[in-house]
Amino acid sequence: MVFCFSIALCVIVLSFFASDRMKSVLLSREDYFYILPDQNDSVVNANSDCKLSSFFSSPSLRSFEDWVAAPKDLWHSMSDEELMWRASMAPNVAEYPYNRTPKVAFMFLARGRLPLGPLWERFFKGHDPRLYSIYLHCSPEFTDEPTESSVFYKRKIPSKVVEWGKASMIDAERRLLANALLDFSNERFVLLSETCIPLFGFLTIYNYLISSKYSFISSFDDPRPIGRGRYNKRMWPTLSISDWRKGSQWFETQRKIAIDLISDRKYYPVFLNHCKPPCYMDEHYMATLVNKQNPEMNSNTSVTWVDWTTGGSHPKTFLRKDISETFLNRIRYDSVNCSYNGNSSSSYCFLFARKFHPSTLEPLLRITPRLFNETSLQ
Ligand SMILES: *[C@@H]1O[C@H](CO)[C@@H](O)[C@H](O)[C@H]1NC(C)=O
Ligand SMILES: *[C@@H]1O[C@H](CO)[C@@H](O)[C@H](O)[C@H]1NC(C)=O
Ligand SMILES: *[C@@H]1O[C@H](CO)[C@@H](O)[C@H](O)[C@H]1NC(C)=O
Ligand SMILES: *[C@@H]1O[C@H](CO)[C@@H](O)[C@H](O)[C@H]1NC(C)=O
Ligand SMILES: *[C@@H]1O[C@H](CO)[C@@H](O)[C@H](O)[C@H]1NC(C)=O
Repeated sequence: MVFCFSIALCVIVLSFFASDRMKSVLLSREDYFYILPDQNDSVVNANSDCKLSSFFSSPSLRSFEDWVAAPKDLWHSMSDEELMWRASMAPNVAEYPYNRTPKVAFMFLARGRLPLGPLWERFFKGHDPRLYSIYLHCSPEFTDEPTESSVFYKRKIPSKVVEWGKASMIDAERRLLANALLDFSNERFVLLSETCIPLFGFLTIYNYLISSKYSFISSFDDPRPIGRGRYNKRMWPTLSISDWRKGSQWFETQRKIAIDLISDRKYYPVFLNHCKPPCYMDEHYMATLVNKQNPEMNSNTSVTWVDWTTGGSHPKTFLRKDISETFLNRIRYDSVNCSYNGNSSSSYCFLFARKFHPSTLEPLLRITPRLFNETSLQ
């Protein structure tokens, strides 16, 4: 009687033990993660081993597509430090194990509403959304959301206050790059302002950038006081005068350089401490960094046209009366000494232009559909 009882007890104890082991074997780290949400008595119940089998048919097993998919929501709670760290990760295997369609990331650095937004809407309209992505950095107090039909709908990234000419400008550019890097499909990254316009149709711009061997970060050695004169001897030995470059803030870059830009922990503090007015970080940081890190990958020129001929510290702003087909064609093909992938007889070298006043929207909307007609190009 006692013997029978002990055997029964043993069986019960063993079965508990066995099912516990069973669970720890079956519940690998990932499974465990997915069981948590519906953790339920039945899962913990020792008598319900058969229920475990339901885990194998669970629809929550992550597929490869889930791992490489673009983040569905651009809004997140990461700090800049966390974001940069996450975005700096790059695969060590060169070949993609899937059919990757490279995208161009259009990154808008704006104060608030985009006055030329309708022109950009027209620019993207009808094009395959797998070919591009849009990111908006706005003043934090700007909370308007465009309508659902807009290409800018829910494309705002968590943003901070930007002061023109200050380090916060570089921080915003790095924030845009880092957010865009979270999408593995983004291959080219172009920084645009609220006064920028496209000079060609979407496909022309897409093909130009995707097929380019080089990035388009303006970077040159300016011997004048507004160039070399802004170098500070205290930057040595991290940076020497021969490393020092000047350039336009409106860059275009490939993924590798983008990752290096957001990963930089060495040069950024040197600029922060020693590039003070009349040295402006946004005119020197990217230009010098790319010259130091990836000079052979850069064309050293910008794809964003701007008119400095009026002199002063600000380029010319174009108004409604300036806009005509002749004017736009002049800047589209204003190609003194430009080269593309080493071919110096490229017919155009600017894809974007600035600065355009909000009043230019109406004539631009009228002229560009004919001008950007892809089928009649080249
Ligand atoms: C627990 O399991 C029962 C039966 O399988 C189910 O009806 C119930 O919704 C579950 N509870 C939770 C919180 O998942
Ligand atoms: C850009 O400049 C760097 C040096 O600053 C040079 O190594 C590189 O070859 C230049 N790029 C082109 C396309 O000439
Ligand atoms: C164009 O290139 C030639 C040869 O490289 C050079 O001599 C000339 O100064 C360049 N012109 C401009 C406007 O940069
Ligand atoms: C260079 O570009 C011109 C104009 O786009 C083209 O006609 C020519 O074939 C190109 N040359 C080479 C070597 O690719
Ligand atoms: C675009 O070009 C094609 C062929 O050249 C022409 O048939 C069409 O009318 C043009 N579209 C516009 C909007 O100009």
